Amino acid sequence: MQLFLDTTDTAVLKDLATTGLVDGVTTNPTLIAKSGRPMAEVIAEICGLVEGPVSAEVAAMDVEGMLAEGRKLAAIATNVVVKVPLTRNGLIATSEFAVEGIQTNVTLCFSAAQALLAAKAGASYISPFIGRLDDHGADGMELIREIRAIYDNYGYDTEILAASIRTPAHVAEAAIAGSDCATIPPATFEALFKHPLTDKGLEQFMADWAKTGQSIL
Ligand code: E4P
Repeated sequence: MQLFLDTTDTAVLKDLATTGLVDGVTTNPTLIAKSGRPMAEVIAEICGLVEGPVSAEVAAMDVEGMLAEGRKLAAIATNVVVKVPLTRNGLIATSEFAVEGIQTNVTLCFSAAQALLAAKAGASYISPFIGRLDDHGADGMELIREIRAIYDNYGYDTEILAASIRTPAHVAEAAIAGSDCATIPPATFEALFKHPLTDKGLEQFMADWAKTGQSIL
C-alpha cells in the first residue's frame, strides 16, 4: 500500500521523508491556504522532496478553466498529479487530461456511483473521503469496500486513494479493504509508528539488558 502525506508543511515532509515511508503527497486548497505560500512555489518544493505523485488541485469550476489550470500545474514537475473535483465538469476535464497523458486525482468522492464515473473517465486516482463520511454519520470504510468491488469487477486500473484519514485504524482498515493508497495527515502518520505495548515492552527489555552489563559493540 502506498502511503502519502496530506500536507503542505515542507518542514514536516522533509522530516517524515527521512523514514523512506512517504510515497507521495496530497494537497488541497485548504492546505495551500494554511501554508500561506504561493501555490506554484510550494508544489515545486514538495515535488523536489518526494519522487512519488504530488497532487495539486485546480480551483476553476468550468471545463476550460480546469484544463488550463491543470496543464499549468502539470508543467511544474513530472510527478504532479492534477486534482480535480468530482463534478460533471471535473470528469469531462479528467477525460481530456487522460488523452493528454496528464495524471489525475478525482477528489471529494462520497459514493460508489461517483467512483464508477471517475474510473470510466480515466482517472488515475479516486479519493473517497472516509473521515468526512464518518463525520456525516455514514460508514466511510464501506465506501472503500464498494469501490474495490466495482473496480475489480470491471478491471478498472484507477487507484483507490483513501482520503480524509483521521486515525491509524483508518489506515489499517483501508489496507484490509484493498485500498491502493492512503493519504494521511502528519500527526496520524506519526501515530502509525506507535503502540503503548511497544513502549512498555522496550522499556522492560532495556532495563533487563542493562542488568547484563553487556555491550554488543
Ligand atoms: C486529500 O486529498 C484530502 O483533501 C484530505 O484528505 C481531506 O481531509 P480532511 O477531510 O481531513 O480535510
